[in-house]
Amino acid sequence: MTNESPNYLNFPRLTLGKRGNVMSEPKMGKGVIIGKNVQFGRDIVVWNYVVVGDNTTIGDGTRIGSFCDIGKDVVIGKNCIIQAQVTISNECKLGNDVFVGPNTSLLNDKFPHSGCLSPSIIKDNVVVGGCVTILPNVTVSENAVVAAGSVVTKDVPPDTLVKGVPAEKMMTKKEYDARRKAFVRGRRGN
Ligand SMILES: CC(C)(COP(=O)(O)OP(=O)(O)OC[C@H]1O[C@@H](n2cnc3c(N)ncnc32)[C@H](O)[C@@H]1OP(=O)(O)O)[C@@H](O)C(=O)NCCC(=O)NCCS
Repeated sequence: MTNESPNYLNFPRLTLGKRGNVMSEPKMGKGVIIGKNVQFGRDIVVWNYVVVGDNTTIGDGTRIGSFCDIGKDVVIGKNCIIQAQVTISNECKLGNDVFVGPNTSLLNDKFPHSGCLSPSIIKDNVVVGGCVTILPNVTVSENAVVAAGSVVTKDVPPDTLVKGVPAEKMMTKKEYDARRKAFVRGRRGN
């Protein structure tokens, strides 16, 4: 695939992958640069001016916002939403159903430019707010939430919301879900 991407409105074309499996080419915006050996699942949307490094894998149904920089050897699971201007450094891994807000960075080199990579890992169903920094070697576990603007310096346990610099526990996922539900209800007036 080249940076002469098809029009965003084109429907995906089905092609045969290396192992003979049926793959669909993602819907692409303008100026998208795709490295070598990138594996796309089905029904992926990549907006404008995104770079995807070599050997990266992106799962079915995932959406990548404009101006994202996705490194080499990255794994992004299924049905993720990656908003605009997100940096995902080489070798970082995201599970399925992960949300990443705009301007967030996942880092991989604690003592730059050491070249000794310790990528960050985001597990399934995690919500990462906008303008968050996830430091190298940090794992954010299943169903966790990271509040906007946080700097995450250590592992986040499952079902926990963290906030701040450095990020500390603010509430449980259950409490977050209740607040979210009440907020949405209030907005919809029911
Ligand atoms: C974490 C979050 C869900 C909390 O919402 P909430 O439960 O309604 O919290 P409140 O706004 O009532 O704030 C409660 C307290 O936490 C603080 N707080 C809220 N969000 C914070 C954040 N991101 N970082 C640091 N402190 C925060 C507030 O200042 C307030 O402090 P106080 O009690 O000393 O006055 C929300 O603030 C947030 O960060 N959402 C993510 C938004 C985002 O990134 N969206 C991306 C897509 S656009």
